[in-house]
Amino acid sequence: MRSLSLAGQRRLVYLAVLGFATVGTYWGFFSDGLPILRGPTARASEVAQGRELFEHEWAPNDPLAHGDGLGPVFNAKSCASCHFQGGLGGGGANEHNAVSFEVFPRPGDLTFVTGNLHNFSTDPASKETEKKLRELYPVVKGRTIQTGTQNCRMTTTIPDFDPVRTESIQTTALFGAGWIDLISDRAILRNERNRGLRTAAKEMSLDFDNIPVGRVRRVASGIGKFGWKAQFATLEEFVAAACANELGLGTPSTEQAKPLVGATSGTTPDLDKKQFRSLMAFIKTLPKPIAVGGDATAAHGKELFTTIGCAVCHVPDIGGVKGVFSDFLLYTLDDPPPPGGSAEYGAPPPPELKLPDRPDSEPKPNEWKTPALWGVADSAPYLHDGSAATLRDAIKKHRGDAKSVSEKYKILAPDDQAAVLAFLGTLKAPPDAPLLSNPGVTKLGRK
Ligand code: HEC
Ligand code: HEC
Repeated sequence: MRSLSLAGQRRLVYLAVLGFATVGTYWGFFSDGLPILRGPTARASEVAQGRELFEHEWAPNDPLAHGDGLGPVFNAKSCASCHFQGGLGGGGANEHNAVSFEVFPRPGDLTFVTGNLHNFSTDPASKETEKKLRELYPVVKGRTIQTGTQNCRMTTTIPDFDPVRTESIQTTALFGAGWIDLISDRAILRNERNRGLRTAAKEMSLDFDNIPVGRVRRVASGIGKFGWKAQFATLEEFVAAACANELGLGTPSTEQAKPLVGATSGTTPDLDKKQFRSLMAFIKTLPKPIAVGGDATAAHGKELFTTIGCAVCHVPDIGGVKGVFSDFLLYTLDDPPPPGGSAEYGAPPPPELKLPDRPDSEPKPNEWKTPALWGVADSAPYLHDGSAATLRDAIKKHRGDAKSVSEKYKILAPDDQAAVLAFLGTLKAPPDAPLLSNPGVTKLGRK
């Protein structure tokens, strides 16, 4: 066999490189879809009608509703009363937080229950309180049992077990939600899978091995992208759930929230198909935030954001959507709780009760989705419970899975730390966000 000349060998190598590059480019660009250049659209008249419904202050038996209107249980009287920071559709402050709860399997009832404690009810008898929740799901009293044989008796003490966990949940901004809706499941899975083999050569030279890969949340209709727990895969499902839970408005797809105790009445959906479609049209066309006012310091901060590892979870571009800064995976940012449980998340069920675990598909009480950071400069306070007043506090609270990254942040020079914050400061609410027609509405949600 004739061996190739040097020039021939070179040509072969060249062709091979070109081939790989073409396949690589194809794979990189097309496998999770082309960049999405145009967001969702809707008819202007529908958007305008949806906006009215978003701002409308609902009342019991409201003339706009086809059912019983506001309630029986609700958290506020309008969507706008919680979603207002940086414009209509933005995030909200802590005084609007609602309480979500979960109930672990317990003796005699192995179902895993999740729900919300609503701030208000139309009928005082249906008012939901933590006390009522705990009456429904009481502490499983501990006891002492005797084991062993007659000669060798052993006493085992089973501790009390409280099956209820509650968590205060903060309002997220809806800007760009229609774009997030367009990110494919495939793009999220692909990013998760490729965490180890980043394509950008720059990232490849950095060591992020100590950041565990987050968990994808699978729900019935796909991969969860919406909510602090990634509990909904589509915007439509979340909007229907928000109508039902926040305002007690039933929609054609979702029944209004039922009170924890007490009878419910009136099952006609409050919003008809057309109203729901227009509310969706308004929300899905809310503009997406863009980075504004970036100077050299902010640009340097953006670079640091990548080099210290923030961008491993807060992925800048995903599924063709630019500047979203999330991988939509679940992480635990708490230090691991001590074996006996923690004050915050309670103790695990005593093994002697032989209770099944909470379903594995459910996020753990302290697992949260990486939130999108677009618009973050206009959505204080931060984290799922609003426990971080400033962006700096939010970064400091990154322990657990993000511990190595926040350690890297902490040892940056003060100027560099300030640069990262300056970069986050450019991630503003969209300048073209609609303004509230009635700014006073934000006060109505107060407890
Ligand atoms: C009492 C305050 C409150 C009211 C009123 C309210 N929301 Fe929300 N909204 C929240 C909170 C809190 C969250 C975060 C919930 C979570 O992640 O579990 C949220 C999240 C959302 C999300 C998910 C955003 C995302 O990207 O994950 C959508 C969509 C939404 N709300 C739409 C609405 C609509 C539509 C209305 C009116 C029908 C409404 N909300 C009324 C507090 C409120
Ligand atoms: C291991 C994944 C991971 C890494 C690495 C990470 N984050 Fe986060 N980030 C999260 C999660 C998850 C949350 C939400 C936690 C919660 O709500 O309790 C979050 C929340 C935030 C928030 C609050 C957003 C809001 O809307 O409340 C900011 C700001 C933030 N991260 C910035 C950063 C910066 C800056 C870095 C780098 C120093 C970083 N993150 C590194 C996963 C990560």
